[in-house]
Amino acid sequence: MFFFSFLLLLIPLVSSTSRHSMHRMRKVHTRAVDTTLLTGQWDSVHAGQYSLFNDLWDEKNATWGSQESQITSFDGSNIGWTTTYTWTGGSQVKTFANVQLNNGINQQLSAISSMPTNWQWTQSTNEVVADVAYDLFTSGSPGGSNVNEIMVWLASINSGPISAEYNAEGQAVPIVTNISLEGYTWDLYSGFNGVNQVYSFLLTSGVINSFSGDIYPFLSYLIDNKDISSTQYLTCAQGGTEVISGTAQFTTSSYSLAVN
Ligand SMILES: *[C@@H]1O[C@H](CO)[C@@H](O)[C@H](O)[C@H]1NC(C)=O
Ligand SMILES: *[C@@H]1O[C@H](CO)[C@@H](O)[C@H](O)[C@H]1NC(C)=O
Repeated sequence: MFFFSFLLLLIPLVSSTSRHSMHRMRKVHTRAVDTTLLTGQWDSVHAGQYSLFNDLWDEKNATWGSQESQITSFDGSNIGWTTTYTWTGGSQVKTFANVQLNNGINQQLSAISSMPTNWQWTQSTNEVVADVAYDLFTSGSPGGSNVNEIMVWLASINSGPISAEYNAEGQAVPIVTNISLEGYTWDLYSGFNGVNQVYSFLLTSGVINSFSGDIYPFLSYLIDNKDISSTQYLTCAQGGTEVISGTAQFTTSSYSLAVN
């Protein structure tokens, strides 16, 4: 008799526990994602630690064009998005649709140990002038004005970095060649964009459509070998595509970045 009532008590307990965990699992899989289509120059939308910016910062350099961006997925650490664009005219970068990390920012570089990341992306065509890159900024104070910009290009699509020196063919001349970092070989370019110093790491050849690694070694390379002080603050960490001209759909199926 005692045993029987114990079992009766147990049954509702077990079933309510499994209902609870099923509910929690379902919540993870259907995490609400704001899929608002961004069309305006400064439109943005947020997902957890990330913000997606359409960022048509120099659209006035184009004769005409438009660009739309949209989050497609978010699971708590990985975000997916698409950017569809068409830009004609002008020789300057028009836009930088990007995902910005909002957690762990405004720390001194010396306080950072790693910046793990993954990025899987594709683009509908290479008949454009664009790049796909991480874009980091440092400053002398938290949230202060930009002193250094550090770019890590996963693709240079008929495009080139800012450089203090160009060869007779008009191509940027690297300041260091054949740097081995994160399993790839890079050339480093440096130049001033009128506001801040820009350091750009470009692959010596090819494109990375699927990157998994650490971005911090690019910063520590510049601390150890160039003029970036480890007392500088990381004020901004973004990844996206800079577009000069062309028509394409850029698709990131998965992107993550963290600062440790
Ligand atoms: C776009 O930028 C280029 C290079 O700076 C400049 O020569 C051109 O006048 C600009 N066009 C417009 C429409 O602003
Ligand atoms: C960089 O590496 C390439 C390929 O191995 C080689 O041909 C080239 O000479 C190297 N450049 C320098 C400056 O070491």
